[in-house]
Amino acid sequence: MVVHIYGHSADMNPILDIANEFGLKVIEDAAEAHAAEYKRKKCGGLGDVSVFSFYANKLITTGEGGMILVRTDDLAEECA
Ligand SMILES: Cc1ncc(COP(=O)(O)O)c(C=O)c1O
Repeated sequence: MVVHIYGHSADMNPILDIANEFGLKVIEDAAEAHAAEYKRKKCGGLGDVSVFSFYANKLITTGEGGMILVRTDDLAEECA
């Protein structure tokens, strides 16, 4: 699980390489990374699962709540 902080992406390629090597899923905490990018790709679209926060102090807010993005239908079922 990686955490993108203050709108800056984690260095994802080494993390994704390790995950691929060991067959691991990558979860991105993108709560602070709305519209942030890593090598021209949006944070939250790099791993298998990502979460965004819409809490009141975030760049996009609904007061509370958030959003989960998943890469596969199976992961969506697990989140439901
Ligand atoms: C990096 C990070 N992850 C998770 C959270 C938790 O988000 P929420 O308050 O929507 O549960 C925050 C909130 O400050 C955060 O900054």
